[in-house]
Amino acid sequence: MQGQIQHRHDGPAPRYTSYPTAPHFTPDVGAKRYGAWLEALDPAEPLSLYFHIPFCDSLCWFCGCNTTVVRRYAPVARYVQKLMREIELVAGHLAGRRRVSHIHFGGGSPSLVAPEDWHCLFDRIHGFFDLAENAEIAVEIDPRDLADENIAALAEVGINRVSFGVQDFDPEVQQAINRIQPFDMTREKVKAFRAHGIKALNIDLIYGLPLQTRARIEHSVACVLELAPDRVALFGYAHVPWFKAHQKLINEEDLPDGKARLGQFFAAAGRFETAGYKWIGLDHFAQAQDGLARAHDAGRLKRNFQGYTDDPAAALLGFGASAISSLPQGYVQNIVHTPAYISAIDTDSLAAERGISISREDILRRAIIEKLMCNLAVDLDSICHAHDFQPRSFEAELGALEPLRGDGLVTIEGPLITVTEPGRPLLRVICAAFDTYLQNAEARHSRAV
Ligand SMILES: C[S@@+](CC[C@H](N)C(=O)[O-])C[C@H]1O[C@@H](n2cnc3c(N)ncnc32)[C@H](O)[C@@H]1O
Ligand code: SF4
Repeated sequence: MQGQIQHRHDGPAPRYTSYPTAPHFTPDVGAKRYGAWLEALDPAEPLSLYFHIPFCDSLCWFCGCNTTVVRRYAPVARYVQKLMREIELVAGHLAGRRRVSHIHFGGGSPSLVAPEDWHCLFDRIHGFFDLAENAEIAVEIDPRDLADENIAALAEVGINRVSFGVQDFDPEVQQAINRIQPFDMTREKVKAFRAHGIKALNIDLIYGLPLQTRARIEHSVACVLELAPDRVALFGYAHVPWFKAHQKLINEEDLPDGKARLGQFFAAAGRFETAGYKWIGLDHFAQAQDGLARAHDAGRLKRNFQGYTDDPAAALLGFGASAISSLPQGYVQNIVHTPAYISAIDTDSLAAERGISISREDILRRAIIEKLMCNLAVDLDSICHAHDFQPRSFEAELGALEPLRGDGLVTIEGPLITVTEPGRPLLRVICAAFDTYLQNAEARHSRAV
């Protein structure tokens, strides 16, 4: 019965890694505006850096990331050179050397960058930025075919957190998504990272994949628990074949329906909670001593393009094709298409092509959405006060939430909105009630549950 209630409210909704979300970025914000925004950054505030590496060795059919398959290393080496030039170009707009609190390498599969290129890249980063002593430096890892010398290089340049893509350990599911990654091999790679001193480990799982069942995901969770990661992300498979054509290789008849997806989600979540992990926000689990769990408990948890974060930096600078920067004035996205990104950098220009300036109203709504996504509750009056607004009734938004309230998925007591446990998978739909850009929007999002 529970599945049916949530199913009634399921529908397309953004992931809210930003607000306004990326489909609402426009060419009104480009390289010139990005340069001016960089120049206006407060030199006393630490920065966070994101580097996008849009290359992989092979294509997983479920993949929704901005990546291409490369058979040779040369395009990756060339791209790393462009990233190094982009660091110079961006730093040219900053007043002096800046302190950095977080660095994240995402993709694609940054783990395929060669040892010598990691060293060059880090020499360039150190040339322009001061890394905070306790800076978190994280990299996304495709553990398949990862040589020990690559792991050693990551340790040498100072990587202190790795995020492994796993998705599911069942061999039939792996075949259905074109990603063969046996558990034993994954365990060996985890061991190798730990032997090299890189101990902080995240693991990504996905529910709702073709041929996945509740029993299969429960088995995958049991395998993941054996690896004892500090953090786990449990993403719902976003099937968007109109946007990612290769997802058409997935047999849609093998996809679990909404009710089955929900069963898989709660079954996996329950296993992590029983094992002592803290359920954070929509889809993350963290051990109690992990920074994410501590930030959550202290009310410091934030949301950024990588999902949940304890990163306190007020500005995130994105490097590489499609990377998004978040600055106090708004968001800026680099050119998505890798060859066009390279051409822009070759003309010594910032590679920003789209973005959005944020208004005071956007900042207020972003804070409401972030609180809901992070804490599953928001006090509308206190958020208004904190942002120098008079408290208001939010009539239309509360009206939109009324059917969910009627079904016990949220409670509304005066200005306090709380998401109930059964409402948790619908968090994105609940946040969408506060998204003024979504009305009349043409963007198609993946389903929420
Ligand atoms: C860039 S990949 C991680 C690193 C590496 N490329 C790998 O796959 O091992 C980031 C994560 O995004 C998630 N992901 C990718 N496509 C997805 C989709 N269509 N729906 C939900 N999650 C997805 C996967 O969990 C994946 O591990
Ligand atoms: S899931 Fe990871 S390894 Fe697979 S294609 Fe996407 S980015 Fe590459």
